[in-house]
Amino acid sequence: MPAALLDGKTLARQIRSELAVEVADFIENNVTVPTLTAVLVGTDPASEVYVRNKRRDCDEVGIQSRLHQLPEKTTQDELLALIGKLNKDDSVHGILVQLPVPKQIDTELVLDAINPLKDVDAFHSENVGRLMQGRPRYLPCTPHGVLELLARNEIPTVGQHAVIIGRSDIVGKPLSVMLAQRGKDATVTLCHSRTKDLPSVARQADILIVAIGKPNFVTADMVKPGATVIDVGINRTDKGLVGDVDFDAVREVAGYLSPVPGGVGPLTRVMLLVNTLAAARRLEQ
Ligand code: GUN
Repeated sequence: MPAALLDGKTLARQIRSELAVEVADFIENNVTVPTLTAVLVGTDPASEVYVRNKRRDCDEVGIQSRLHQLPEKTTQDELLALIGKLNKDDSVHGILVQLPVPKQIDTELVLDAINPLKDVDAFHSENVGRLMQGRPRYLPCTPHGVLELLARNEIPTVGQHAVIIGRSDIVGKPLSVMLAQRGKDATVTLCHSRTKDLPSVARQADILIVAIGKPNFVTADMVKPGATVIDVGINRTDKGLVGDVDFDAVREVAGYLSPVPGGVGPLTRVMLLVNTLAAARRLEQ
């Protein structure tokens, strides 16, 4: 039997409708509207699409979104000055600097300039540190989306062997910590480009999470029959948007499989809304 699909699109719609109720309730009680400000430097087409989609999601749940689009040539000091202004603006609850930023700008410096209470991406080093210590302020959106996709499909993690392929700061690294955390209780293996015999490690996974950015990287022989496979990849190819998993072949082996598009992506976007509402609650209390 082919794998059951983990439908992130439908789940995200359901969570947005839950959030819309919470946002309306917040507005009624606080007489202020949760507000996310996105900062986009340059005109990278993919980044423009991401930001447009995030703003559309905000509209749908009643969160106000604002956009500062700055020219490609913006200097680091100009960007830092804008962030300083947004930090001081009490009407802004969440600040998101769309990545990547142009090369003249130091990404880490910029992320650490955001008020950590407004850091709805959870990329500030203070928020990363808190996550490591098991006392997160905000959860990073993609790892949180992955956990929600598992939880809402009633896929247990306790005692399960989760193998993550890809050690990025945005997905693999934080997800490894979150899955090992008390409550999730998975046994985690974090794989990367130097892992020896990756296929045999991947085959041990009860839950295989792939975030490596290589189209069709995971083939059927890397998957234990019945395993859950979560594809975090978004690769633009001649054939359109594809994930990191060879979907058709792996579907014949896995128990559950998340599609691309329509799997993790929609949940990543929802978690930004969750964090923005949380930031508004924190800053207005
Ligand atoms: N670029 C790619 N993914 C992300 C993300 O999750 N947040 C931000 N700010 N930029 C990104």
